[in-house]
Amino acid sequence: MYWMSQVLVKDLNKIGNTVIIVEHDEEIMKAAHHIIDMGPMAGKNGGHVVFEGNHTELEKEKDSITAKYLKGIEQIDIPTKRRKWKNYIEINNAKLHNLKNISVKFPLNTLTVVTGVSGSGKSSLVKGCLYPAVKKHVDAVKHDGKFAGSLEGKFDKLEEVDMVDQNPIGRSSRSNPVTYIKAFDDIRDLYASLPASKVNGFKSGHFSFNTSGGRCENCQGEGMVTVEMQFMSDIKLQCEECKGKRYNEDVLEVVFNEKNIADILDMTVDEAMDFFWQFPTCEKIVNKIKPLQDVGMGYVHLGQSSSTLSGGEAQRIKLASYIAMGEKAKNRLFIFDEPTTGLHFHDVKKLLSAFSALIDQGHSIIVIEHHPDVIKCADWLIDLGPDGGKKGGNIVFEGIPEDLASAKKSHTAKFVLEKLGVGV
Ligand SMILES: Nc1ncnc2c1ncn2[C@@H]1O[C@H](COP(=O)(O)OP(=O)(O)OP(=O)(O)O)[C@@H](O)[C@H]1O
Ligand SMILES: [Mg+2]
Ligand SMILES: [Zn+2]
Repeated sequence: MYWMSQVLVKDLNKIGNTVIIVEHDEEIMKAAHHIIDMGPMAGKNGGHVVFEGNHTELEKEKDSITAKYLKGIEQIDIPTKRRKWKNYIEINNAKLHNLKNISVKFPLNTLTVVTGVSGSGKSSLVKGCLYPAVKKHVDAVKHDGKFAGSLEGKFDKLEEVDMVDQNPIGRSSRSNPVTYIKAFDDIRDLYASLPASKVNGFKSGHFSFNTSGGRCENCQGEGMVTVEMQFMSDIKLQCEECKGKRYNEDVLEVVFNEKNIADILDMTVDEAMDFFWQFPTCEKIVNKIKPLQDVGMGYVHLGQSSSTLSGGEAQRIKLASYIAMGEKAKNRLFIFDEPTTGLHFHDVKKLLSAFSALIDQGHSIIVIEHHPDVIKCADWLIDLGPDGGKKGGNIVFEGIPEDLASAKKSHTAKFVLEKLGVGV
């Protein structure tokens, strides 16, 4: 995959074109003539040009996180132990698309990574066969308690299956990180319990921007109004009535330690943690917001509309919402198709620790990935191929990453073993 894109880019360049790529891939960065590194961090803490120049110069740059990863000062560690498994789901005689009548065990309560070259059959197996079968099973169990279909294995505890794509939490401008994670309910209750609210008769609903009562009616609590343009796409402007604050003046006068509800929505996750942490009565709020920080979203504003979040950010918010549920969450199988697309090494590290947190809570994760750092962290690998199309669709390898050395036909083996520091 990587070499293919590099060859393509070099060819485009040779025939006189200028190529600009937004990319995190190490090999592509090495091949670039000129690199522009943005940051230093994400969101509010980014937005600066940290570095401009070539790859060798970038490695000397002290402030660049990219440079730290390239030099190995910061790195994604190889796990010291691979999780062992007993529970699994077995798919038998899968023939969809190019799959060659294969039978595969997918371990549960682990991080399982499905690898293989493009066209080898990964999506066909996982999204085309495994997901619908498991979904049918859990729905049937929910419906009449009966086991459905021809799935085999040991998976009686599994209650839900979830396919997490790049748009997992919806694109509504009315939802945002703090509502998605359900911490806003507790924040609204807190505001409704203040003396100023009691005097004015404000209930929890008055602090919602989604229902009338306390919100600004001019923008219906969005803080922005949409202006339709005749020959262009619509534009959004700050609401003149509330100046983007979303609420009416009476509600904004209710303050908790000098902050009104709009100030809270304007805080980043990190700022909100620092703020609420001081008050013992806010423990529930802190516990709900913390997972957002844990998955590396400390820089996101609590009230930032979901429609503006990147695919990777939205995925991590979804994971954070399950981490926040803790023991209460149903036993789930999460399936991802290339979740690291568009993520920096630094974000990949956060994503991997979110995976670990979920597995520790009893969930299971199956990921289709090309990213070497994710593959090297797998508890179990399923490698498909050996090649794409007709020449693919076979199981080339099943096992722990270290055992790839025995998989002579696997295109995955060489680069993963290199990452693991095992020569071939
Ligand atoms: N709906 C379809 N109808 C017919 N053939 C298909 C269909 N979807 C995929 N294929 C073929 O099946 C083979 C496996 O495709 P699949 O999408 O499973 O590969 P993949 O391993 O997920 O690849 P990638 O890494 O590019 O996502 C390919 O040769 C593909 O062209
Ligand atoms: Mg695919
Ligand atoms: Zn308004």
